[in-house]
Amino acid sequence: MLRAVRSAALKLQKFGYSTAAVPEPVTNPKVLYSGIFVNNEWYKSKSGKTFETINPATGEVITEVQYGGKEDVDFAVDAACKAFKLGSPWRTMDASERGRLLYKLSDLIERDAGYIASLETLDNGKPYHIAYQVDVMSSIKVLRYMAGWADKNCGKTIPVDGKYLCYTRHEPVGVCGQITPWNFPLIMMVWKIAPALSMGNTVVLKPAEQTPLTALYIAELCKEAGIPPGVINIVPGHGDTGAALVANQKVDKIAFTGSTEVGLQIQQASGIGNLKRTTLELGGKSPNIILADSNIEQAVEIAHQGLFFNQGQVCCAGSRTFIEHSVYDEFVDRSVERAKKRVVGNPFDKQTEQGPQVDKAQMEKILGLIETGVRDGAKLLTGGKRIGDKGYYVQPTVFSHVEDHHTIAQEEIFGPVQQLMKFKNLDEIIERANNTNYGLAAAVISNDLDKVNYLVQGLRAGTVWVNCFNVFGAQQPFGGFKDSGHGREMSEYGISQYTEVKNVTIKLPQKNS
Ligand code: NAI
Ligand code: MG
Repeated sequence: MLRAVRSAALKLQKFGYSTAAVPEPVTNPKVLYSGIFVNNEWYKSKSGKTFETINPATGEVITEVQYGGKEDVDFAVDAACKAFKLGSPWRTMDASERGRLLYKLSDLIERDAGYIASLETLDNGKPYHIAYQVDVMSSIKVLRYMAGWADKNCGKTIPVDGKYLCYTRHEPVGVCGQITPWNFPLIMMVWKIAPALSMGNTVVLKPAEQTPLTALYIAELCKEAGIPPGVINIVPGHGDTGAALVANQKVDKIAFTGSTEVGLQIQQASGIGNLKRTTLELGGKSPNIILADSNIEQAVEIAHQGLFFNQGQVCCAGSRTFIEHSVYDEFVDRSVERAKKRVVGNPFDKQTEQGPQVDKAQMEKILGLIETGVRDGAKLLTGGKRIGDKGYYVQPTVFSHVEDHHTIAQEEIFGPVQQLMKFKNLDEIIERANNTNYGLAAAVISNDLDKVNYLVQGLRAGTVWVNCFNVFGAQQPFGGFKDSGHGREMSEYGISQYTEVKNVTIKLPQKNS
């Protein structure tokens, strides 16, 4: 089966990445790997425990996956330590060769793109054409960007006082524990493994329990690419598996994407026993500020996509849309009209814009928050309910007259629920936009250069998009201010989170001896 998918994918490569290039999905993608991946081999959990991963479009079990416990995590970390030892194949490999292996991995992902996107859709529920065009294609780009960095992260020579040669080496941090969420399973894995491997670290990754399948398939591709045993290890499991990774004293760094609540726990646990470096990419409640001078039709579409993309399960979702008062009513009417047109359905159908939420717990959280919106006095203009009783579908929902103190204006909903709020002037809106513990992203929609530049300076967020939303690239840093985390992923800034700077100072001879 896989060979057929691969040859179909190969034929399609010549068309590039346009919409036309999306191959037919594999509607029942076979799950080939469900074990624990250590030293390039597959293992069962030492406890014998497994967990189910569910197809959120039907609620049915896809397969049982091995549930990594502390002993499995420790086994994987030991493998990663061994692979990191000076003299190991990985540590003696030329940096350019590490880059070549990452290019090879990106080529293998490209070869199997249709299958991988189908597997992502099955496990996560996101529309297949988006899994293909966004998740898989952007992962390939990130891998290639990071592959290029492998032999280009240079240190400096420093003109110190006295007769010394002083230079810096940018060395790998060591064993990196990486914990990923379920909203972009493949992308989050690649954002983490690509810079880690490019810089010569070794990895133990714990994928989210809701969506472990693509990470496990990529593990096998890492082996096929020629990455040596122990360099990348994958231990699937629930939160306790992640906690065991954070608790392991041989782990040098933890990179985490997920809830702020767990991020706080990880930050604290990372300081017990040893002092792990951490990069944390956490939640958000991002403001999207629409000024009256903007093209309203375009602004409505930007705000719609900025919130509803990926079923609303996006850490930087524009979940507080602030609209200048003079265009508020028109904006509300058009937003409701747009949300009503949103195509919700089978994620394998070509026209589907919105699939199911990832699981029952997330669906119930969203429906509960919608209830608080109604209770707090916001106006529910469309949606608000579950669709059907099979799968975890939620109607595209729009609230107007949302006030800053409403729960739906404060808590991360992580679902297809849009909050439309009103503002009067720029100083007021900077204050209100920043009045949250989060600081992941913000957007401004306007053609008035001075107003845009004023707002850009005032907004406290790791990313500010102007007249666009959700524009990501391997070259751009991504990460948060305040409780949205610290550290940056992707770009040169992301690379720096996977290296330690070593200062080497050598006494120079004073005369020819
Ligand atoms: P979570 O933060 O519990 O899960 C994310 C990852 O952390 C998963 O791999 C999970 O197994 C792991 N984990 C959980 N507890 C851990 C612990 N004590 N130590 C180490 N690892 C641990 O998020 P969850 O429960 O899936 O979703 C809850 C809410 O978090 C969502 O409704 C959403 O608001 C937010 N969230 C934000 C994400 C983002 O991209 N920033 C992604 C996923 C969720
Ligand atoms: Mg699943």
